Amino acid sequence: MLEERTVDNKWQGRANESIGPVLLQSQAIRDRIGELGARIKEDYKGKTPHLVAILKGASIFHADLVRSIELELSYDFMAVGSYGKLAKSSGEVRILKDLDESPEGKDVLLVEDIVDTGLTLHYLVQSLKTRSPKSLKIVALLNKPSRREIDVAVDYIGFDIPDEFVVGYGLDYDQRYRNLPDIYILRLGK
Ligand code: IMP
Repeated sequence: MLEERTVDNKWQGRANESIGPVLLQSQAIRDRIGELGARIKEDYKGKTPHLVAILKGASIFHADLVRSIELELSYDFMAVGSYGKLAKSSGEVRILKDLDESPEGKDVLLVEDIVDTGLTLHYLVQSLKTRSPKSLKIVALLNKPSRREIDVAVDYIGFDIPDEFVVGYGLDYDQRYRNLPDIYILRLGK
């Protein structure tokens, strides 16, 4: 359900680039994260989940998600980057910042902003599995199922969205727009 909503002019500064309709308002995001937190609490009862956020995109989602889970938990961060456009199709990612603590023996829950082709997550899952976590699950705020190139089992999904480039709530275009509280469709070109 797309709702046309204009954004303040301060966000409309770049040529050939504009913030389109709002896709998800902050209240809807908050409500959904509350539901995810409740499900995770049930599923991890008696355990201490270890939430690993993939920087930078997932940082805001992660910060809200951990506060919605009423359980003792721990968390860590990883930052990944692509090897460039040509290498993108392989899904191989460069680890820019590794975990501070070993995931061995932990109930790891990977926290991702958006699953698009699935290549990044597939690579990360394969790589983390070799480090002997007790369990490994994935939570993603957004999912673009129509773009999937490789099968990845995403255990918790906030929202399935159409094939559009989105920004806000941690998601960027060229490192910008991450601090928008809502999620918008980005329009490129005239
Ligand atoms: P994948 O490997 O194709 O699944 O790409 C996942 C990564 O691409 C995400 O973690 C995001 O950083 C980025 N990405 C994919 N789609 C979008 C989008 O619509 N907006 C912002 N970033 C995106």
